[in-house]
Amino acid sequence: MKTCVVTNRKGGVGKTTFALHLAAAGVEAGLRTLLVDLDPQGSASGVVAPGGTPALAESLWDDAAQIQPAKTAWGFDVLAASSALTGAEELSLDDTLAALRRIPAGYDLLVFDTPPYLGVLQTAPLLLADVLIAPVEPDTFALQGLKTVQDVVTSLRPRNPKLQLRVVVNRLKTRAIVQMQTVAALQDALSSRFVGPALAEREGVRHARDAGKPVWKHAKNEPYARAWKQVCDTLIA
Ligand SMILES: Nc1ncnc2c1ncn2[C@@H]1O[C@H](COP(=O)(O)OP(=O)(O)O)[C@@H](O)[C@H]1O
Ligand SMILES: [Mg+2]
Repeated sequence: MKTCVVTNRKGGVGKTTFALHLAAAGVEAGLRTLLVDLDPQGSASGVVAPGGTPALAESLWDDAAQIQPAKTAWGFDVLAASSALTGAEELSLDDTLAALRRIPAGYDLLVFDTPPYLGVLQTAPLLLADVLIAPVEPDTFALQGLKTVQDVVTSLRPRNPKLQLRVVVNRLKTRAIVQMQTVAALQDALSSRFVGPALAEREGVRHARDAGKPVWKHAKNEPYARAWKQVCDTLIA
């Protein structure tokens, strides 16, 4: 089983969108895939979880409860978030880790969506992960933010030596020359940790989410949509 954690200490960069697409690509690659929504805001759950899906929080903190993923129309299973997850922030890192270890086995791919702030819900899954996937926006803060993500990986390596970093650029305004230069600088700085092509800012990404489909199924022939599949497939490979 491979574990991917989509995270970045910034909101709105596309963490949730990317986690959904990575899980969808996992299914298309024939992998038994589970999406774990650790963001108390539950945005990913809102897109894929059927109404009445039991939330993850309660079963995580109760040793006796069974953790029961739900099926989604996207083909992967989900452990849905709820606002009760905010309570988890008071747990210790080790308790949270123990809870995450009770997630049922039998999956080939585990994808975690995380909240945008530092806390055990970001750190605990990273201690189990093979890959930290950081979506970044190509703005002037991107390089700065990247430094923070790199520091996180470095600080966790002693407890999780297998942790790898992969960076995906999202929300690129393809007509903004400064942004294109930032992407080039990121690619240079990251070499193989950069997974391209950069994903463009397109209305269709929002529409696909509203339609409840991965963007490559919603806008089949659009190059920007195919780029999402290419990035996800590269990561899965
Ligand atoms: N490439 C993109 N083009 C246009 N809108 C996007 C793109 N990526 C994400 N979005 C939209 O931006 C908003 C924030 O994305 P989201 O994935 O929820 O970010 P995060 O989880 O990092 O807060 C959502 O409405 C999403 O549909
Ligand atoms: Mg999110």
